[in-house]
Amino acid sequence: MSIVWNDKGLLVNDTQFQLIVGLNDLIALKEDHGLVLGKTREMVDTYMDLLAGFPAQHIFELGIFRGGSTAFFNELLRPAKLVAIDFMKKPRRGFRDYMNTGANAGSIRPYFGVDQADTQRLQEICDEELGDAPLDLVIDDASHMLEETKTSFNFLFPKLRPGGLYIIEDWGWAHVPDATGAFEKMVGERAPLSNLIIEIMLASTRKPLLFPEIRVFSTSVIIRRGECDIDPDFDISQLAFYWNHCIGRTNFFDRQRLELLPDIGRK
Ligand SMILES: C[S@@+](CC[C@H](N)C(=O)[O-])C[C@H]1O[C@@H](n2cnc3c(N)ncnc32)[C@H](O)[C@@H]1O
Repeated sequence: MSIVWNDKGLLVNDTQFQLIVGLNDLIALKEDHGLVLGKTREMVDTYMDLLAGFPAQHIFELGIFRGGSTAFFNELLRPAKLVAIDFMKKPRRGFRDYMNTGANAGSIRPYFGVDQADTQRLQEICDEELGDAPLDLVIDDASHMLEETKTSFNFLFPKLRPGGLYIIEDWGWAHVPDATGAFEKMVGERAPLSNLIIEIMLASTRKPLLFPEIRVFSTSVIIRRGECDIDPDFDISQLAFYWNHCIGRTNFFDRQRLELLPDIGRK
């Protein structure tokens, strides 16, 4: 595998990628200078450190958008199969071209019009593409909404092999500066995704063999699946306790409680 940084972004093997600096770039960048990869330089560096030499034969990606990340993981890891799903109805042009011309694009199995919370559809896709083969890697960069992300996690985490990695991107949207309040307005009353990260962290104290390692970066969380068996009706919310009280499904950032806190203004 060859990786070269150049003035357009990143060249992996023969595929040119453009990176984003801010979220707007994910939409604004034109494809003339390469596939649009919805990651910053910092995220790409983290992925390359983390995944160098990681054996990933079977990958499941949630959230394709312009296809840059799907092509990136395909080039970086050369999996036997990379199953990817998205809400969108069809692929964007750059990704379609990559699929048609990329030497290794045959390993990519994209599914469009699929909701990440539709576990029945996810099961059909897994049956069709993977049979009984376990997953090595899951990357969730889809809705970033709490319930949808948790539903996918409950469904896909048990499908990881021991030692496999589950990555949730952009978990911290409720905690970043939002100077104009526009983002808060857009998300409305929806509970932050960070609630899920807290549940996973709490669950790791209850089931340390199942969650032997959780690495938290500002842009992503990486959870390694341990060696032990997993409950057939695995539900992360059932594993978060405060003493003897199950506190999964709590919104740790309940607005009514927050209203009691002093307002420091938008910073
Ligand atoms: C941030 S973009 C993905 C960017 C891509 N992973 C990359 O790094 O280049 C998020 C994508 O998730 C999709 N999405 C949003 N909600 C979804 C859901 N509930 N189920 C499936 N896909 C969803 C959107 O259509 C969008 O294409």
